[in-house]
Order: sequence, then C-alpha cells, then structure tokens
Amino acid sequence: MTSFLDIHTTSKSDLRAIIDSARAMKDARNGATKGTPDADQPLKNRMVALIFEKPSTRTRVSFDLGVRQMGGQTMVLSGKEMQLGHGETIADTARVLSRYVDLIMIRTFEEATLLEMAEHATVPVINGLTNRTHPCQIMADVMTYEEHRGPIAGRKVVWSGDGNNVCASLIQAAGQFGFDFTFTGPPPLDPEPEWIDFARAQGVKAEIERDPARAVRGADLIVTDTWVSMHDPQSARERRHNQLRGYQVNAALMAEANPDALFMHCLPAHREDEVTSEVMDGPQSVIWDEAENRLHAQKAVMRWCLGV
Ligand code: CP
Ligand code: NVA
Repeated sequence: MTSFLDIHTTSKSDLRAIIDSARAMKDARNGATKGTPDADQPLKNRMVALIFEKPSTRTRVSFDLGVRQMGGQTMVLSGKEMQLGHGETIADTARVLSRYVDLIMIRTFEEATLLEMAEHATVPVINGLTNRTHPCQIMADVMTYEEHRGPIAGRKVVWSGDGNNVCASLIQAAGQFGFDFTFTGPPPLDPEPEWIDFARAQGVKAEIERDPARAVRGADLIVTDTWVSMHDPQSARERRHNQLRGYQVNAALMAEANPDALFMHCLPAHREDEVTSEVMDGPQSVIWDEAENRLHAQKAVMRWCLGV
C-alpha cells in the first residue's frame, strides 16, 4: 500500500513497472468495447474517493472509468461541497475518509494539502494535480511517447512556454526515465531550480535555452501547456500572453526539431495561443493518444498503490 505523490519520489523501477503494466492493460483491452470490464477485476469490492478542488475533464473521467473497468466503485467529491472547504482540517478529513474508502485521489491547490492528506490517511493517496506538479499526466506522456517511438531514455524532450506544474513533473521524469530536457520560455516563468537540479543529479542534461528555435534543435518531443494555469490569477492573462507569444508551438518551430519529433499537450488547449491548430491537428501530434493513456496509466498507478 503506497501513495503516488510525485514522479521524483517514486523509484525508477516502480515507475517503469507502472508504465509496463499500463501497456499490458491497454493491449489486453484492444478489441474490447469501451465500457467493458477488465477480465481480472483487480478493484472488485474497492471504493475510491475522487476529490476535486479544481475543474477537470480528463482526470475525472479517466479515474472514474478506470476504477469501474477494474471492478471497483467511485465517489466523486467536490472540495467545495465537503466540510474540507468549511474549516475541517485536511488531517481529520484524511482520517475519516480512510475509514470508508480504499484509495483517495485528490486534485487540489497547495502541495501541502496533498502531503497532509497522505500523512494522515491510512489508505494510499494519489496526486491528481497540485499547483506544483501533475505526475499522472506525465506517466501518460511517457507511455504515449514509447508507444509511438520506443524507449524514451536518451531522447531529447523540449518544453516551450510556462514552467508550470506539468513542466515540473516532466523534468522529474527526465531524471527518472533518463531523457534529456530543455526548457524554453521567459525567465520569470522558469521551472523551479530544484527540479533542474534533481534531473541533473540523475545524470541527464537539463537545460534552459531562451531561443525557442535553438532549443528544439535535435528534439524528439515538444511539449507545451496553457499559458495561464487554474491556480494563476486571471489578471496575469494579458502579461502572460505578452511574455509567451514568442514561445508558441507552430509549424515553423516544429520544423526546427527532428523530422520525426512528436507534439504533446496535456489539454485543455487554447488553440492559437500556446499551440496552433495546424500543429495540434497535424501529423506529429499525439494528443488524443496522450489523453486516452491517462486512463491506462492511472489504472496501473491505482493497482500499484493497492498492490493488486
Ligand atoms: N490534463 C488534465 O489533467 O486535464 P483535466 O484538467 O481535464 O483533468
Ligand atoms: N497547468 C494546467 C494543467 C491543467 C491540466 C493547470 O494547472 O491549470
């Protein structure tokens, strides 16, 4: 019984085992109709609480569906409707929920909320996104890259735009899965130095290159995300657009990368801001596989957490 809190705090061998298990489950489902259950029903008689303090389409649907495919049941809880939003401590909420359910997934604002939940819960807790990281997304991204191009180890991955929560998990993954990473974006939006240091300490290249065209040279994968995240003040929107305009992923930028480079975006996307429709809908984009793989990757994460 283990929590899945972040990529840098999960061992390399466990991360690899989760990706392999996701791949095997996806393969086993090939040919199945969307809603049909998995034959082995590993979550039979298990109840999973899915807590959302922020909006979600993919995380909500893929976790809910994943639990049901594996024979378990879910309750989707909105932070605002729980006592959590009205003064009950995270620790007390964790203690109570642990008496009812077998697993907790939480999408929240502060990382401290996730950590407090995990510390006081006696069931595993999964990070469904905080202001700081989004590990489930990057597990799906690694799975997607490998399904199209083989091992990600030794490849070059470039992030263009805001050095946000998704970017942080990608840098952690560079260290854990052994790929080189380059960030390109303006200095105020750099990723936290802690993540760059972590990746370097694992023996991979982790660099910052201000010139986007130079950054993507030799790239095997280009990734971006919204310029304004859910936790960012809406008042930042105009300033962000001015800061990031030059870091849009468009056909000209893709042309500077390796010819077989892939494009990914965790979604939701803002077409013609951080990425053009030409790239999103173009032949190098694997965004729909990436979204589908949230389902398979998270099923593997849940099995790992519960040891089933
Ligand atoms: N990528 C992702 O986490 O999407 P949602 O916000 O829709 O869950
Ligand atoms: N960086 C985005 C990711 C959404 C899935 C956000 O936090 O809003």
